[in-house]
Amino acid sequence: MANDASAVSDARPSAVSNGALADPFSPPADSSLWRKNFLLGAATASYQIEGAVNEDGRLPSIWDTFSAKPGKVLAGDTGAVACDHYHRWEADIELLASLGLEGYRLSIAWPRVMDAAGLPNRKGLDFYKRLLNRLKEKGITTSVTLYHWDLPQHLEDRGGWLNRDTAYRFADYADLMSRELAGTVDAWATLNEPWCSAYLGYGNGHHAPGLADGRFATQAMHHLLLAHGLAIPVLRANDPASQKGIVANIGRGTANSDSAADQRAAHLFEVQHNAWILDPLLKGAYPQDLFELWPGTEPLVLDGDMQTISAPLDFLGINYYFRTNVASDGAHGFRDVPLEGVERTQMGWEVHPDGLRDLLIGFNRTYRNLPPIYITENGMASDDKVIDGHVDDAQRISFLKRHLAAVDQAIKAGVDIRGYFLWSLMDNFEWAFGYERRFGVVHVDYSTQKRTVKRSAELVAKFLKERKAQA
Ligand code: FCB
Repeated sequence: MANDASAVSDARPSAVSNGALADPFSPPADSSLWRKNFLLGAATASYQIEGAVNEDGRLPSIWDTFSAKPGKVLAGDTGAVACDHYHRWEADIELLASLGLEGYRLSIAWPRVMDAAGLPNRKGLDFYKRLLNRLKEKGITTSVTLYHWDLPQHLEDRGGWLNRDTAYRFADYADLMSRELAGTVDAWATLNEPWCSAYLGYGNGHHAPGLADGRFATQAMHHLLLAHGLAIPVLRANDPASQKGIVANIGRGTANSDSAADQRAAHLFEVQHNAWILDPLLKGAYPQDLFELWPGTEPLVLDGDMQTISAPLDFLGINYYFRTNVASDGAHGFRDVPLEGVERTQMGWEVHPDGLRDLLIGFNRTYRNLPPIYITENGMASDDKVIDGHVDDAQRISFLKRHLAAVDQAIKAGVDIRGYFLWSLMDNFEWAFGYERRFGVVHVDYSTQKRTVKRSAELVAKFLKERKAQA
């Protein structure tokens, strides 16, 4: 049996005991990945794949507005058509199922399902009902994110995440969705990556809505986390059988030297990337070091907010992509010092699987109440081309294998990790980088909408088939 470590003598390559392990993806015989209850799936997000931005009563989102502004997105790309998934969802689910993927993480477009008065938009809701029902028919575990960055523009016009009221509107939206979709969702995540919404959206302006002020970032974060905290009890009341959690992107910061100043810089990098979100959620307080890094940015926090934000979670979703090497900026902050001679992806991001393992093990030590973890996103962009009907994405295959090995190491070190979602099921609209950056395990030809399964997806499918076939 491939998941029986004792079947493999340490003197022999694992391929000898199981011919199935000879390909460049398959995990070693003793990997936790072979456990059938380790969920392996793929993820997408509404604005990145759906298109159909003006159909069936969908309202504009901040990403429609932002991407329409010249210079905000590479090549002037927008999500207007994207992967046309709104019309091609049936074929896309067939594809997902044909790969044997066991879980699907998707997000709901808030502007598709609710009007400006907070009333349901039936046509938009029906789209997600059909989608989720079909996934359930196929036996696929469903993980639904309520907010993957496509805030309705009418809420941004009233201050967006700088306006405390948006948190209450989010709780209303969570209420509607969990009443309508109860029974079809296995796991609800409130927010995807509040760091990106707050920092990139309000702190440096690289993402929608494109505002750039440090104080905006911390206040937006507070309202995002409040929105999360207000939504959790609502989701629990309406859909008790499902799991409830949130998805955070975590960043590894390493010091460029042994100097105390550089070590401190790396610590502060991780404080703003990780503790800024995880401390309020799991300790009920913002890390004080954050305001040493960004003096004068303390958000307005009302009585009771931190209790609301730190409501217990059933799971924590973790998204991980790369590490950042930093040095002291000579004052109270850090500056990036990109390493030379390291492997990078099409995004320029360093491939550093150990960062994932080390962060997971570190969180398990830091947070006594760390909930069970799902890796809700991990993957890489490469400039993939279809040649003779095939896409040979060798770097991605190696990337996935190494990151799954890092997950296995964290599990063996005691971290409770229950599953892993590839980012992404298919190439899609990569935010400020448009369509040039291809993260999918399925290639999309945007001129024809043809999907081509990449070699990485074939190998993941092969592994899942082998795992399923085991006694
Ligand atoms: C994450 C986002 C996801 C995708 C990947 C590459 O930050 O959650 O939508 O863009 O990065």
